[in-house]
Amino acid sequence: MTQKKGFATRAIHCGYDAMHNHGALTPPLHLTSTFAFDTAEAGGELFAGAGGGHVYSRISNPTLDLLEQRIATLEGAEAGLALASGMGAITSVLWTLLAPGDEVIVDKTLYGCTFAYMQHGLRKFGITITHVDLTEPENLTDAMSARTRIVYFETPANPNMRLVDIAAVARIAHAGGAQVVVDNTYATPYLTRPIALGADLVAHSATKYLGGHGDLVAGLIAGRAEAISEIRLVGMKDMTGAVMAPFNAMLVMRGLKTLALRMDRHCASAQVVADWLDGHPAVAKVHYPGLSGFAQADLASRQMAQPGGMIAFELEGGMQAGQAMMNRLQMIARAVSLGDAETLIQHPASMTHSTYTPEERAVHGIGDGLIRLSVGLEDVDDIVDDLDTALGQYPAAQSA
Ligand SMILES: Cc1ncc(COP(=O)(O)O)c(C=O)c1O
Repeated sequence: MTQKKGFATRAIHCGYDAMHNHGALTPPLHLTSTFAFDTAEAGGELFAGAGGGHVYSRISNPTLDLLEQRIATLEGAEAGLALASGMGAITSVLWTLLAPGDEVIVDKTLYGCTFAYMQHGLRKFGITITHVDLTEPENLTDAMSARTRIVYFETPANPNMRLVDIAAVARIAHAGGAQVVVDNTYATPYLTRPIALGADLVAHSATKYLGGHGDLVAGLIAGRAEAISEIRLVGMKDMTGAVMAPFNAMLVMRGLKTLALRMDRHCASAQVVADWLDGHPAVAKVHYPGLSGFAQADLASRQMAQPGGMIAFELEGGMQAGQAMMNRLQMIARAVSLGDAETLIQHPASMTHSTYTPEERAVHGIGDGLIRLSVGLEDVDDIVDDLDTALGQYPAAQSA
C-alpha cells in the first residue's frame, strides 16, 4: 500500500488482501512455532538467508510480518520488527548495535527500566553511558566523542514531558558518525514521525497507545531494512530472544485500526484536563505540551501534530499531598502503564522511576512530587470530576 493513502487507511489495510486468504476480512493468526520445508535443500537455502519463507517463529512469522509492515508504513520506515515488549525492543536494538568500548549518549530523563538497563546493564559490559540534557541540542556537540555510536532519547520523555528536537539532534549526531534511536512511545507515529526528522531507528512500547487496551505487553521497532534485518537476526534471534507472540500481534493490529481515532480523543481530553489542572489552586505546576506556558511550546507545535495524552503535574503539598490525592480517586485507576482506555495515575518516584536512586532522580529532573496522568477515553467531564473531588479536599486533608 502506497504512502499516499492516509494514516488511518494504512493502519487498517496495509499489507493484507482478504482475497488471498479465503476472503477472511481479519488476517489469519499463525499459531505455529516452526515451518515445514518442501525439501532438505530448500530448508538449507532458507537458513543460508535465501529469504522468501519462514523457518521458526523466533525469527519471523506471517502474523508478525503483517504487523511489521504496518508499523513500518505508519512510521515512514523501510521495515519494522515485532518484539516481546518495549524493553525487548530497546535491548534488542542496543545489544545489536553496540560493542565494548562504545559510548551511548542518552537524554537526562529516561523511562525507569530503560535507565536501569543502561546504567546497570550495558555499563557492566564495557559500554559508556553519558547523560546529556538534549533539550538543548548544542549540548550534544560538546558531548560527542569518537566512541559515540548511538544517541538515544524519548520525546516527550517519561515522566516529565521534556521534548527533544529530533531534527537538530540528528544533524549533530550524524555529523559525528552516531545513529539516532528515538523512543516514540508517548507520541506514537500519529503525532510524531522521528524518521522523517532524521532518526535512524524508532522504538515503541506497543503495550501503550499502539495496543491501546491494556491487555498485552509488546514492543515494535522501525528503521532501514538492513538495520532491522540485523536486529532481527542478531539482537532478537540470538541475544534477547524477545520475540512477540502471534496472538499479541493480532491484538496490536486491532489496536492500530483505531489509533488515529483514539489519539484524537486522548489529546482533546488531555488538553481539557491540563487546562483545568493549570487553573487549580492546589496544583503548583503542570507539564503539558499543549499549555501556552509550557517551556517548549514552540518545539511542541513544530514536532507534534497534537500535544498528546500524557500529563505530569506537581501539587503545592508535594509528594504527600500527591499520594493522598491519588488515594481519594474513585474512577481513575492507580496504575502504571499508559495509553489505555482507562485513565491511569501513578507516582514516578515510588513506582516507574524507583529504579533511580533519590540522588539520581534529583540530577535527572524527576521530582519526588511529580504525578503522571495518562488521560483515558472516558467522558472528560468524569475525569475532571474525579480529580476535582480528590483535589477539592486537599486543604482540609493537608491540615488534618
Ligand atoms: C517510554 C517507555 N519506553 C519503554 C517502555 C517499556 O515498555 P514495556 O513495558 O512494553 O517493556 C515503557 C514502559 O512503560 C515506556 O513508558
